[in-house]
Amino acid sequence: MINIRKYQPKDKENLRKICIATSKLPNEKKVDQDFLTVTFNDYYTENEPDNIFVAVNEDDEAVGYIICSENFYDFYDTMKKFYLPEIRELGFNYYTMALSEILTHKAFSKKYPAHLHIDILDVCQGQGVGTRLMNELKAHLKAKRINNVMLSCGMSNKQAVNFYLKNDFKIIKNIFGSAIMACEF
Ligand SMILES: CC(C)(COP(=O)(O)OP(=O)(O)OC[C@H]1O[C@@H](n2cnc3c(N)ncnc32)[C@H](O)[C@@H]1OP(=O)(O)O)[C@@H](O)C(=O)NCCC(=O)NCCS
Repeated sequence: MINIRKYQPKDKENLRKICIATSKLPNEKKVDQDFLTVTFNDYYTENEPDNIFVAVNEDDEAVGYIICSENFYDFYDTMKKFYLPEIRELGFNYYTMALSEILTHKAFSKKYPAHLHIDILDVCQGQGVGTRLMNELKAHLKAKRINNVMLSCGMSNKQAVNFYLKNDFKIIKNIFGSAIMACEF
């Protein structure tokens, strides 16, 4: 039985593990793992914990999450000050990957200030958990008068692209193999 609840500080390490385990990018070396967690997890858990929902098992351990930044400019400022320098220390290639991910969001941030990431462990996929997390986040954003959200997703990740289309996202642009998708609600 999977429940959905708000993020708690005790979830932080499990979210990092899920981020690494579900990544389509290289994830075996420590440096790759650090890149993934600093780029796709730490900003959100450390700065916007209120905008995170977690899917938990019977032992209240996280098996999936949806994380969101509601305002691109706050995200961008904080990433530049605190997280991009950390990523630069890992290597220039990691820095350019993180920067291109951020700049992709920047290009659409005026119309879509909020963006999200979602990841669920393999064993819990295909059971509606992603849809439940997505609905929870949309309701939460709507209550804050935020009426849309965007994301970027590899075009080759058919499972995710289908999932977003099924959840009322539309592809607004294809850039270098990534689909930029957005949903209004
Ligand atoms: C993408 C992901 C978040 C979807 O969550 P999920 O809980 O597995 O999805 P749901 O069970 O809610 O499925 C909803 C819809 O998504 C689509 N979908 C889900 N799994 C799919 C698969 N393996 N192949 C094709 N479409 C799929 C279907 O349209 C499905 O609707 P249906 O059940 O009526 O057919 C999850 O599979 C995941 O974390 N994948 C690995 C990490 C990842 O790729 N994250 C996104 C990075 S951009």
